[in-house]
Amino acid sequence: MDIIYYHPSFKNDTWFTGIQARLPQARMRVWEPGDTAPADYALVRTPPVEMLQGRSALKGVFALGAGVDDILDQLRAHPDMLAAGVPLFRLEDTGMSLQMQEYAVYTVLGWFRRFNEYQQLQAQGQWTYLKNHVRRDFTVGVLGAGVLGLAVAESLKAWGFPVRCWSRSPKQREGITFYHGNDQLSDFLADTHVLINLLPSTAETNGIINLAMLNQLKPGAYVLNLARGAHLVDADLLAALESGQVKAAALDVFAVEPLPEGHAFWRHPNVAITPHNAAVTLPEEAMDYIARAIMQREAGEMPTGQVDLARGY
Ligand code: NAP
Ligand code: GLV
Repeated sequence: MDIIYYHPSFKNDTWFTGIQARLPQARMRVWEPGDTAPADYALVRTPPVEMLQGRSALKGVFALGAGVDDILDQLRAHPDMLAAGVPLFRLEDTGMSLQMQEYAVYTVLGWFRRFNEYQQLQAQGQWTYLKNHVRRDFTVGVLGAGVLGLAVAESLKAWGFPVRCWSRSPKQREGITFYHGNDQLSDFLADTHVLINLLPSTAETNGIINLAMLNQLKPGAYVLNLARGAHLVDADLLAALESGQVKAAALDVFAVEPLPEGHAFWRHPNVAITPHNAAVTLPEEAMDYIARAIMQREAGEMPTGQVDLARGY
């Protein structure tokens, strides 16, 4: 079994040793330009188009992340990048849910207990009591009720916040209110105090966090973007922060990464920034899934995690 591998920044050794230990029959190689030798599987992040082009014998391409917008963007520009019938798989959870829960719970509790405001008061040497938020009014709305969105919703539900989610298709779970489709988006947004984004980046969702959306949230809302920078219209968030419609934002992802020097988010007193590491790919967990999925493919089965290319996620 031949596996080709390409990642712009991961340590290759970790993946080679890990895959070899799990699949002793595998021969894995880093793909180099000009390599057209046969391959059964590909492990990739933002792969060069030529790596996959013309490879109709591939039994699976494994994205080494949860989001596949990078690959689908390339596929739109080069429709022959994936031969017909070659399945694309993505990482579902593989340790990312817990990381997202940590980030979301930390951030929401910080806003709920107004810790960011106390930090600013401390910098001014001020001993001031701020009025507490009321938990039952501190409604958290999660855009996206997939693997990560639901995990985050469950963790905030456990902290006693009213939690709602918005997705494409209807869902049901105890203690969470679900909305779906564009018709129910306004109902989802009304009364949402904390907006958390965990949507995939697609033609339908890019630019979705704009002024029209922000203005429908509860005045003084909080915004946490954990998904992709393309979802957010930066100028609209800045305008909403300026007017007070949005009180604070925490952003892990940006339209341009690294966030360019001089961007207004860098020095905004009510914007917290992390460098796209809300939930990183954990190699051991990811390789457990990939090795299992390859064994399933070898047995003629279809593993979970297949991306619907037409839907875009
Ligand atoms: P997922 O399981 O595919 O869930 C996506 C959710 O979005 C689903 O509930 C889906 O609805 C919903 N959705 C998609 N298009 C929609 C639309 N047009 N309208 C309404 N809802 C829509 O994805 P995931 O594993 O939770 O990951 C979500 C995203 O997180 C990834 O795509 C990636 O961009 C991002 N991410 C970021 C980091 C980071 O470090 N910042 C790390 C990992 C992932 P249905 O349930 O009805 O299909
Ligand atoms: C990270 O952003 C991922 O999509 O895995």
